[in-house]
Amino acid sequence: MPSPEAEFARVAVIGAGTMGSGIAQVVATAGVEVTLIDRGPSELDRGMAAIRKSLAKLVEKGQLTDTAISATLERVATSTNRADAARAELVIEAVFEDVVLKRDLCAEITRTLGETALYATNTSSIPVTSIASVAAEPARVAGMHFFNPVPVLKLVEVVRAERSSAETVERIARFASFIGKTPVTVEDSPGFVANRILVPMINEAIFCLGEGVADPEAIDEVMKLGAAHPMGPLALADLVGLDVCLAIMDVLHRDFGDSKYRPAPLLRRMVAAGKLGRKSGEGFFRYDR
Ligand code: CAA
Repeated sequence: MPSPEAEFARVAVIGAGTMGSGIAQVVATAGVEVTLIDRGPSELDRGMAAIRKSLAKLVEKGQLTDTAISATLERVATSTNRADAARAELVIEAVFEDVVLKRDLCAEITRTLGETALYATNTSSIPVTSIASVAAEPARVAGMHFFNPVPVLKLVEVVRAERSSAETVERIARFASFIGKTPVTVEDSPGFVANRILVPMINEAIFCLGEGVADPEAIDEVMKLGAAHPMGPLALADLVGLDVCLAIMDVLHRDFGDSKYRPAPLLRRMVAAGKLGRKSGEGFFRYDR
């Protein structure tokens, strides 16, 4: 059996946002050549800036050396041409949560890939099966769900879609281990496991705030000190993005048809007002942009 490095000598990551740039970073840090693809130079510049900032943080924390930074950066190529994904042995799609866009990309890119290449989507809420169903070969598609911040959090949920082959799931899990993550294979159920548990907890914290049970600082303090969470649920909502939290709650609510997943009205109102968390400069807390 070839090593994951030999199996996936070249990886393409589509989408240079928070998740895509983090994924490209961990792939390159593991010694694999990666092409980061997005629509325009400004998206790519932002993605590369995020990689540099994150690598510097890891050096600060003593988890990486200065020489590893330049070697990692040398392994990241950027491109605005989606056709460049065709040369990759593994494509990881990490564009924003738009089902039409994700399906279009999957249909287009899987038709250009080599015979043994795999396609993984980093969706956090859209069923992988609905994306994979338009692939040239759905057996070679699975979910690869990373967690924010990608360079720090160990988990990758490997999502088995309805028609993913056992070999595809195994190869993707092996690659996740190779890049230093811990893969956990789960079925293609709404929210998979992590978001089905985590995001309703965040939603409940927003209900507490909306009902005046406590202020944002107090809610977060309770969960940090009383449940040993590394950050409070409202600060976490700001990190993940309130729009992403709402999209996940909407999927859970719609797909399970259970009122226990109804999004908090305050969450919907904040998203409508453009208060999306860190990325917009304001969510439950304020941030310098
Ligand atoms: N790369 C990128 N960001 C990094 C980083 C790195 N190497 N190291 C730390 N961070 C970030 C933090 O987000 C934070 O950002 P700012 O500098 O902009 O404030 C800052 O660095 C804090 O740095 P610290 O060194 O003080 O980090 P910490 O030790 O307090 O840990 C944390 C920060 C890792 C975010 C920790 O609080 C944590 O694990 N929080 C929980 C995160 C979590 O639950 N993530 C899952 C979200 S759900 C998801 O992602 C799935 C989905 O589909 C929505």
